[in-house]
Amino acid sequence: MNQNRAAIILAAGMGTRMKSSIPKVMHNVAGRPMVNHVITACEKTEINNINVIVGPNMDTLSSSVSPHKTIIQDDRNGTGGAAKIAQKNLNEFEGSIFILNGDGPFITPGTLHNLEQASQKTGLAVLGCEFDNPHGYGRFITDGYHVTAIVEEKDCTDDQRQIHLANTGVYCVSGKHLFNWLNKVTNDNAQGEYYLTDIVAIAAQEGVQCAYATAEEYEVMGINDRAQLAQAEKIMQSQLRNQAMKNGVTMIAPETVYLSTDTQLGHDVIIEPNVVIGAGVKIGDNTHIHAFSHIEGASIGENASIGPFARIRPKSKIGNNVNIGNFIEVNRSEFKDGSKSKHLSYIGDAIIGEKTNIGAGTVFANYDGFNKHVSTTGEGVFIGSNSTIVSPVNVGDGAMVAAGSTLTQDVEQDALAVGRSKERILSKWAKKYRDRNKK
Ligand code: UD1
Ligand code: MG
Repeated sequence: MNQNRAAIILAAGMGTRMKSSIPKVMHNVAGRPMVNHVITACEKTEINNINVIVGPNMDTLSSSVSPHKTIIQDDRNGTGGAAKIAQKNLNEFEGSIFILNGDGPFITPGTLHNLEQASQKTGLAVLGCEFDNPHGYGRFITDGYHVTAIVEEKDCTDDQRQIHLANTGVYCVSGKHLFNWLNKVTNDNAQGEYYLTDIVAIAAQEGVQCAYATAEEYEVMGINDRAQLAQAEKIMQSQLRNQAMKNGVTMIAPETVYLSTDTQLGHDVIIEPNVVIGAGVKIGDNTHIHAFSHIEGASIGENASIGPFARIRPKSKIGNNVNIGNFIEVNRSEFKDGSKSKHLSYIGDAIIGEKTNIGAGTVFANYDGFNKHVSTTGEGVFIGSNSTIVSPVNVGDGAMVAAGSTLTQDVEQDALAVGRSKERILSKWAKKYRDRNKK
């Protein structure tokens, strides 16, 4: 770990344009809060001293970024004010301090390294971008080589507003200078806020030049509203799918498949159209996910077949060579190697033994209205169609359950359980019934 890098991530704003009751940076992109994407980029850059500036009452945000430190900014008086309160954690720190926005989830370690390189000479560099439409961004005033000032859109002259090279809100500043400069920032501007951007002009007055690096526009995209959130999702999904295909996953209609940032896919996995993979999923080699399946928080082994129309819910573990067919819901359950459930079943809180076959329409009744109960089956068990297992029930190795049974007690090894009323045959009853009702 490099001890000489720290970060301040600005995330105290509620993001009013999101019209949300949760902080803006807690909205997910590809199954992970946007601020956590920023943290991942910092971690990959070997920045281990990470400080997140949050607003009051943002406990979910603090726990989402934990174990990294959070500092509460009570008075949201601007980006300069926000960065300044990190002084209490970084006062003695003399290495590179990166400052980033919590709402920019695409920033990459490569760009952070470039920015740090640019900052080496004077201890100050800022990341810019040639925006197609720079509206809303602070414009870079340059002497051709260095940034001499950053002027916010609202403070720009008409000429300055024509500049496309603008501020992405990412900085790399030497810890030896940062807080000296921040302490000189005032709120004498159009918005009455303490602007972080003013450190550039303050440094210039002290004869310290500000270098800059640039990045692609998508990488520095800031998310301010739900439309931009959807656009970010689209970009990140496309990145994740391309990466998966590069690693040896087949997708028949990639644009219809949704992955999560932490999705782990083995080689020769085949994913058919319209599959949604939520957070926390791992799928082993040669497994085939058929169309319209929904999987989250589950691990799936090798050579398995899932769906079409399967739903695998969190805390489920599917082994190797398992076959989960159409309209199967698996919830907090384990399927050991070679087991099967191919049609129309609910498997909740169950452990299914190796090579066990669960017949069509089987339901594990795991909930009694107050508590959830666990059932198990041993190895090589056969559960006949349309059975109801009223949990907790343990079915021993090699046992069989007659179709249509309702099980309420354990079944011993190799036994047959028949839990249904005896069939009666009433000879000629149907004919007599018809004759009786004939007009
Ligand atoms: C800021 C920059 C602008 C740049 C743009 C890039 C300033 C003055 N302007 O403008 O040059 O082009 O970002 O996106 O810095 N925040 C706090 N506490 C506060 C205020 C803001 O933590 O008191 C956080 C916000 O949650 C957000 C980040 O700082 O994550 C940026 O704030 P925002 O208000 O979006 O700044 P912009 O006006 O976009
Ligand atoms: Mg912004």
